Amino acid sequence: MDDSTLVFTSSLDVDSRMAFYDVMGSLAHVNMLKACHIIPAEDVDSIIQGLRAILKEIEDGTFQLDFKLEDIHTNIEFSLTERIGPAGGKLHTGRSRNDQVAVDFRMYLRDKALDAVKSIDGLVTSLLKITEDNTDTIMPGFTHMQHAQPVTLSHHMLAYVFKFSRDADRFLDAFDRMNKCPLGAAALAGTTYPIDRFMTASALGFEEPTENSMDSVSDRDFVNELAFCATQTQLHLSSLCEELVYWSSQEFAFIEMDDKFTTGSSIMPQKKNPDIAELVRGKTGGVVGSLMSMIVLTKGLPLTYNRDLQEDKKPVMDSMDTVIDCLEIMSKVMATTTFKKDRLMEVTSRGQINATDLADYLVTKGIPFREAHAIVGAAVRESIESGVNLEDMPLEKLRTFSDKIENDVYKFVPVQSCVERRISYGGTSSSSVDMELSKAIEQLMQREEVLRQEKQLIENCWKELIG
Ligand code: ARG
Repeated sequence: MDDSTLVFTSSLDVDSRMAFYDVMGSLAHVNMLKACHIIPAEDVDSIIQGLRAILKEIEDGTFQLDFKLEDIHTNIEFSLTERIGPAGGKLHTGRSRNDQVAVDFRMYLRDKALDAVKSIDGLVTSLLKITEDNTDTIMPGFTHMQHAQPVTLSHHMLAYVFKFSRDADRFLDAFDRMNKCPLGAAALAGTTYPIDRFMTASALGFEEPTENSMDSVSDRDFVNELAFCATQTQLHLSSLCEELVYWSSQEFAFIEMDDKFTTGSSIMPQKKNPDIAELVRGKTGGVVGSLMSMIVLTKGLPLTYNRDLQEDKKPVMDSMDTVIDCLEIMSKVMATTTFKKDRLMEVTSRGQINATDLADYLVTKGIPFREAHAIVGAAVRESIESGVNLEDMPLEKLRTFSDKIENDVYKFVPVQSCVERRISYGGTSSSSVDMELSKAIEQLMQREEVLRQEKQLIENCWKELIG
C-alpha cells in the first residue's frame, strides 16, 4: 500500500489507547501457550521479558508507534520481534488479530464501565447530600412546566438519585454480559492447537470464555450496549442540567451556582451564566450520535470479521469519556449549588398548588372525586380572580362552593400538610422520603462493594501477569 492508503487504513490513533490491554492479552496468551506445551518455555520467557519492556515504555509514554503498521496489535508484535528476534513471531500462534482486538476492546470497555459506575456514584453522593439537607424544603412539583403539587426538594433530588442508580446498575449489567473472553476464537473458526481458553479467560479476569468462535469475532453488541448505557446516563444528566439552567434564571431564582462553575459575559457585567450545565446538555448530542454510529455500523454485517468493525472504537471511547467527564463535573456543581429555601417556599405558596388537596378533602366528606374536582375548579377561579390563596379564603367564602367544607379544611390545605399527607409508598411525605433515602443509600453501598470486588479482581490479574 502507498502511504496515503496506509494512513487511510490505520486505526493506530484510536486503538493505541488499548496498548496496556493488548500487552495483558498477549501475556495471558503466551503463558497459556507455555502451559499447554504449544511453544517452548524458553521462547515464552523471552517473549514475556520483551512484553514487559514494551509495557514499561507504554507506561512512560516512550513506546514508538509506526503508522505503517496499521494498528496497536501489529505495532506491539513487531516491536517484540525487533527486540527478541524470531521467538517474537511465536506469540501469534493459535491467535488472530480478530480475537485479539475483540479481547482488548472488551477489557478496555470493562474498565470504562466500572469507571462510569464510580463517577455516577460520585454524583449520587452529591445528590444524597442535598436530599439529606432538605427534607423540609418545600418546592413546587411541575407537570407540563406548570405548578402541579408541592413536593420536598429531597423528593425531587431522590428522583434523580434513582434515575442515576439505574444507570449505574445498567453499566454493571452490561459489564456482566461483556465479561466473557473471546481470545482463542482465533480468526473465526477456532484453532488446531490444543489451547486452553479457560486458562486465558481466567488470567484476564473474565468469567469464562465466549461460547462460539464465530460470534466472538463478529459481534459488537457489548459496544452498542455500553454506548446505550452512556446515552441514557447522559440523557438523565441533560434533564438535570436543563432544570439547573432555568432554576438559576432570574424568573425562577431557585438556586445559586457557585462562581467556580459559572461564567460571566464579555460585555454584560451582571451576567452569571450556567455554562457548565449548558455544555453538559449540549454534549448529549455527541453521545447520542455515538450510539447511532455504532448501531448503523453494525447493521447488516455478515459473519464474521469485517473491516467495518475497525470503526467501532472511536464512537464509544468518545461517549464514555464524555459521560464520565460530565458526571465528574456535575457532582462538583451539585455539591456547591445553593438552594434558596425561602424562595422555593414563597413560589410554592403563591398559586393554587394545593387544589388537589382541597378536592381530596371534599372526598373525605363523601363527595365523589369528579364532583370535588369541579367544585374546586370554581374555587380556583375565584382564587385567581381575587388574588386570595385557597388556604387564606375565609370559611364563609369556601362554603359558597360546597357546604361540606368546615373548619378542619385549614388543616388540609397548607402546603406542608399537602406534602406530609402524601404517605403512599414512594410519595413525597417525610416518612416516604426517609424510606426512599435509606433504599438509595443501601443500593449505593451495594454497588460500591460490587465495584470494589470487580476492580480488585482485575487488578490482581494484572499484578499476576506483569509479575
Ligand atoms: N485494526 C483491526 C481492527 O481494529 C484489527 C483486526 C484486523 N483484522 C483483519 N483481519 N484485518 O478491527
